[in-house]
Amino acid sequence: MLSPAVLLSLIAACFANTGVGKAETQTLREAAARHRMIIGTAADAVHLKENDYATTLSGEFNQLQAENEMKFDALHPRPDTDPNPYNFGPADQLVEFAQSHKMLVRGHTLMWHSQVARWVTGGHYTPDQLSTILKGHIDTVMKHYAGKVYAWDVVNEAFNDDGALRSTIWYNRPGIGLADQGTKTIEQAFRWAHDADPKAQLFYNDYGIETLGKKSDAVYAMLKDFRARGVPVYGIGFQCHFDLSFDNPGALNSFEQNLKRFAGLGLKLHITELDIRLKDSSDASLQAQAKLYGELAGICVKQRACKLFQIWGFTDKYSWIPGFTRGAAGWALPFDDHYQKKPAYQAIFDAFK
Ligand code: XIL
Repeated sequence: MLSPAVLLSLIAACFANTGVGKAETQTLREAAARHRMIIGTAADAVHLKENDYATTLSGEFNQLQAENEMKFDALHPRPDTDPNPYNFGPADQLVEFAQSHKMLVRGHTLMWHSQVARWVTGGHYTPDQLSTILKGHIDTVMKHYAGKVYAWDVVNEAFNDDGALRSTIWYNRPGIGLADQGTKTIEQAFRWAHDADPKAQLFYNDYGIETLGKKSDAVYAMLKDFRARGVPVYGIGFQCHFDLSFDNPGALNSFEQNLKRFAGLGLKLHITELDIRLKDSSDASLQAQAKLYGELAGICVKQRACKLFQIWGFTDKYSWIPGFTRGAAGWALPFDDHYQKKPAYQAIFDAFK
């Protein structure tokens, strides 16, 4: 784990030259810095050559996270027997961009059922072999980025909506050999990650755990157990892929209560993948979206353990939403297709002020 002093200096560097102390706050990163908060976004190296993309990214955010380029299939496309199993190029480009703009880098993700390289999913490996593959992957990737990536989503989306463990290649199909021991597979990943880079902040990340319920109860029980037994977990990531239906007192209240109980375990809280999809881009929809963005940012600012407010991309131009949700939906982010600020931008900014 990063010591508080080291982390503070890292974060302070990200807040430097951002106008803190100047009379007028003009960007999200300046506004967030007032609360010592991190404002992050998912990003893709392929877009960095686009001037509007690069200037918005570096001007408004003090953290980036690879939307895809640090996933298993991207980083480790060839088997370990290949002379060149890893492909760090695009992810390294993101890291260099971040460093040259005093931004933090958050890593995503080491153990996940999706976007695993085909050589693994189609390789018919035994549990022993899969265990070696995953340990090697975590070790190589985290050592490559040690000192550059301050936090990792070590495990992503390991639970089903009903709170049962998700059936995956790492867990039980066939898994790394620990499927008969409940959350032991997840614990093992955290232990390997801690060994690989003892200074990195290690997170469990998931969707559908934002409010009280079966799934968040299951994750809560696991993390309570991990904390009690000294398993090296530092925080929890709430993805927050929402639509406007989340804007009701029941859900918002439940979200706040839920954040509180995880904070009560001594965990840091990160909002990791927020987007709010709309059915249309009417003024009314954009205003309703802004209201919800503002409310969520306000809840994070209020909760001391909430250190990161991160959105899943920043421009509607490259949002994953139109391609991934059933039915017509989109317009999910605070900047439109032409990098113009939407009402949501102002609402987040105001919540940070
Ligand atoms: C998504 C990306 O945004 C897409 O570009 C990609 O095609 C699929 O994955 N939960 C996660 C993210 O943890 O990694 C996912 O990102 C969105 C859901």
